[in-house]
Amino acid sequence: MKRLCVIPGDGIGQEVVPSAVRVLLKLLPGLEVVEAEAGWDCFLRCGQAVPEATMQRMRECGAGLFGAVSSPAQRVEGYRSAVLTLRQQLQLNVNVRPVRSWPQLSPRADVDLLILRENSEGLYIGREHMESADVAVAQRLISRQASEHIAARAAEVARLRSSGRITLVHKANVLPLTCGLFRDSCRRVLAEAGLDSIVDERLVDVAALQLVERPQDFDLLVTTNLFGDILSDLASHWSGGLGMAPSLNWGQGIALAEPVHGSAPDIAGSGKANPLAAVLSAALLLRYHWQYGEQADRLERAVEGLLTEVTITQLEGETTRVVEQELLSRL
Ligand code: NAD
Ligand code: IPM
Ligand code: MN
Repeated sequence: MKRLCVIPGDGIGQEVVPSAVRVLLKLLPGLEVVEAEAGWDCFLRCGQAVPEATMQRMRECGAGLFGAVSSPAQRVEGYRSAVLTLRQQLQLNVNVRPVRSWPQLSPRADVDLLILRENSEGLYIGREHMESADVAVAQRLISRQASEHIAARAAEVARLRSSGRITLVHKANVLPLTCGLFRDSCRRVLAEAGLDSIVDERLVDVAALQLVERPQDFDLLVTTNLFGDILSDLASHWSGGLGMAPSLNWGQGIALAEPVHGSAPDIAGSGKANPLAAVLSAALLLRYHWQYGEQADRLERAVEGLLTEVTITQLEGETTRVVEQELLSRL
């Protein structure tokens, strides 16, 4: 049977993750759940944002569900966002971020796209230094290996989704070496996979505009780390916002599902957190990592049924509890 390492983290992570786990257990009653800790509270208690025991449990389980962690806005010696540490140390090199229309919550009904975000390099390698008192420098690293890796994943996802279009998003006009290497590596791998006829490209600024103007024209977008971070929040508007934005950090034989949102200190403890981003992240784990497509479909259909039949007013207030109950009754 499958094992799941559950890392609720901070703030609403402590509310939405247990809720999503109860929903997942209804689908997979034999699932073995292993608890682990990470985040800012954990750092304050034990001096580490991701204790070695958490890494070990993730490696043993090969699959995890992470909530969110808080990060202070100013630099704190010894602290780095737990999610970045997990992604890097577990080599979760690709981030899967689907955006689709949902009944009631979505501003339009025809969006169904997926952003594949490179998850291990780009501007996120954490190499920043002060060149002088007045000049700060950050390095952006793009490798052929990571670019080929995300392109291979794109080919897999394109087949699963029967994609009609793959859009490589970059800024190779200004960054010809880094973005050029990304674009060329992706193009070669996708051509080898026989998909070159459906591959096209957009510069990231134009892609942002088109994701606002004509989101229905996109299918599968493949992009570098920072561009994917920004575009996935932007596009999540079409799903109904951050409470509806799921993601999957995907490595080789290991994956960590994670709602895109943060710890939401403004609503933590109020019961208002929408657990659907966490639930839909679990559905991504089912679909892409465990290859339980049927269970993933059942879960997404239950979410669709809930959002079709239950009014927004009924969901307001005790959102976490009501959504969970309504989902459990539909599975
Ligand atoms: P946030 O995502 O926590 O919240 C942004 C807004 O969206 C808030 O108004 C919040 O109430 C709302 N929101 C988020 N998730 C929701 C949900 N499930 N249901 C209903 N409303 C929801 O982003 P922020 O406020 O910029 O950051 C808060 C903290 O979270 C910071 O410390 C930040 O560093 C951290 N953060 C962590 C992650 C992560 O762990 N992956 C991601 C983003 C931010
Ligand atoms: C996300 C978040 C993280 C990121 C932060 C919390 C480090 O914004 O998952 O999109 O930038 O990757
Ligand atoms: Mn983000």
